[in-house]
Amino acid sequence: MERKKIAAANWKMNTTVEEGIALFKDLMALELDARTEVVICPPSTHIYSLSKMPCGKNVFLGAQNMYPKEKGAYTGELSPTMIQSSGATYVIIGHSERREYFNESNVFLAEKLRLALNYGLTPIFCCGEGLDIRTSGNHVAHIITQLKESFDEFSNEDLGKVVIAYEPIWAIGTGETASPQQAQEMHKAIRDYLAQLVGEEIANGIPILYGGSVKPANASEIFGQEDVDGGLVGGASLDARSFSQIINSFSS
Ligand code: 13P
Repeated sequence: MERKKIAAANWKMNTTVEEGIALFKDLMALELDARTEVVICPPSTHIYSLSKMPCGKNVFLGAQNMYPKEKGAYTGELSPTMIQSSGATYVIIGHSERREYFNESNVFLAEKLRLALNYGLTPIFCCGEGLDIRTSGNHVAHIITQLKESFDEFSNEDLGKVVIAYEPIWAIGTGETASPQQAQEMHKAIRDYLAQLVGEEIANGIPILYGGSVKPANASEIFGQEDVDGGLVGGASLDARSFSQIINSFSS
């Protein structure tokens, strides 16, 4: 089955609004493979301005986080409608930095997933293991537990709308990437788990992205793995040329 190919940029807490606009403009001025879905997740302060800028039909915006309530007294948080009305159609949920620094649990992330889906935002749901878990050999079980505890209550139809990002924490911002074989092993395990949960047909349609030091030099080999459908890119997405090369790294 033909799955969507996605190159997603997570700018994290980088760039001023002006710098973000310049980066977006620079990226849009480059040749980008129209078959790749490009998702730019800037800081939320930038989304509305970027949504007014010219871009290809394959380019979408996403938020990096969202609070799981419709509105109310949650100072500093962003609701799904705020995100949607600012021009984003995607939202990253459960990035390891949120799990670690803001203590976001699998159960709390399930609430976010629920709200995102209710409001028609496409969640990019992140999972990933730390180095200790990888070294102990329990990485597959750890990831499946993360997914299970967040996905259990959802219908097949709902889960069919989710994008998953596997981001080993030991490879994030470290320059160390999972080998293409390590990525494929985990992505296949995730897809097998999804097949048990929602059936093979839906599981085969769910894009699973790899994240962790994706660069122009390693993107095509990683994206070439059977169960890797693209990347969630941090550092290298802050450079228009590098990110364009990553977008163009899918073989036909
Ligand atoms: P790097 O590409 O900088 O390793 O970051 C990966 C990431 O965390 C994307 O969400």
